[in-house]
Amino acid sequence: MKTITVALGDRSYPISIDAHALKKVGQWLVDIGLKGKVLVVSNPVIFQHYGQQLLTALHKAGFDAQFCLVPAGERYKTLKTVERIYEYCVQYRLERRSTIIALGGGVIGDMAGFAAATWLRGINFVQIPTTLLAMVDAAIGGKTGVNHRMGKNLIGAFYQPKAVIIDPQVLQTLPPREYRSGMAEVIKYGVIWEPQLFTLLEEQSRLSHYRYLPPETLTQILYFSCQTKATIVSQDERESGLRALLNYGHTIGHAIETVTQYRRYTHGEAVALGMIAAGDIAVQLGWWSETEQQRQKALITKVKLPIQLAPDVDIEAIKNALNWDKKVEGGTVRFILPKAIGRAEITDQVSAELIHQALIRLKGQ
Ligand SMILES: NC(=O)c1ccc[n+]([C@@H]2O[C@H](COP(=O)([O-])OP(=O)(O)OC[C@H]3O[C@@H](n4cnc5c(N)ncnc54)[C@H](O)[C@@H]3O)[C@@H](O)[C@H]2O)c1
Ligand SMILES: [Zn+2]
Repeated sequence: MKTITVALGDRSYPISIDAHALKKVGQWLVDIGLKGKVLVVSNPVIFQHYGQQLLTALHKAGFDAQFCLVPAGERYKTLKTVERIYEYCVQYRLERRSTIIALGGGVIGDMAGFAAATWLRGINFVQIPTTLLAMVDAAIGGKTGVNHRMGKNLIGAFYQPKAVIIDPQVLQTLPPREYRSGMAEVIKYGVIWEPQLFTLLEEQSRLSHYRYLPPETLTQILYFSCQTKATIVSQDERESGLRALLNYGHTIGHAIETVTQYRRYTHGEAVALGMIAAGDIAVQLGWWSETEQQRQKALITKVKLPIQLAPDVDIEAIKNALNWDKKVEGGTVRFILPKAIGRAEITDQVSAELIHQALIRLKGQ
């Protein structure tokens, strides 16, 4: 087992990575002082694979554990679904000392976390992420919330879990495209923060599927990734500075997701394209070298994530989406640009012309 601590004073918590975590979780939760009633929140697909195993482990450790299933998918990440979770809280009479466990990807984690943050003004919360993206990103850092019809993640709260428990074996059933999407965030951590992670990824002959990675290597990749996110959020819990680095690849990535209506590319695929464009801009500015950009491109290619934007995606529409963000942020488009493998900086000094050129090259023109 590997453990990382998210250091936030009296709200610090462990991230535990273990190939048999699902079997051991009951005892671990006892060890961190939890007891009594537990509500596991999941969706039918994930619960079918792992729900019973988790409930058994909880019952064995003496918990009064029940579960609540909500429909799968981003479009159900709403207040309406959270209300459904509250109904179960009522039915099972969850109290202040009770615990909600999220068993699922980022959608389940964000929603269950928001329910835990708000039910009785906050009850215990534990994350058991089941997608690669949730393991290395969504489950760590305390952002919880739901979408509003006017936009994603508009309603939410900062609320830290008591523990994040990662069992890499659950990735076996994750659809490969979801796995590759999560790898985009892993590469991001290598570029902005952790050169050892970057070289570990470079050393692997294949990266595009869970089964290509020896278990110890996968654990090490998860460890470096979670460590990076934990370090960054420990230093900047409320996103006033350093945490912005996590947006590497996301400026143009979000714009691509917006103009393609979140249908054509997964989040990770859009972030991969965003990292290629940001790296390109950094090369133009002389911030990092063409060699480093090629190393980044090689990793993205190895994961089988896209490195070229589809020809019919409109560059003007992407620029408009970026300018829309700029108005929301108040003035300038902020980019996170790499300076070396393992180091990045925030800048608002990227000219419209540089962005335009980078987008043209992203299309391979
Ligand atoms: N809170 C944060 O800091 C943060 C950070 C990044 C993203 N997010 C949020 O996370 C969400 C995306 O999360 P995601 O990428 O994990 O997607 P997701 O939660 O939608 O899961 C993707 C799909 O995989 C299925 N699935 C999950 N685990 C599985 C498993 N082990 N086996 C088989 N199927 C499985 C799910 O049912 C779902 O259909 C977005 O809503 C995003 O806003 C939050
Ligand atoms: Zn992301």
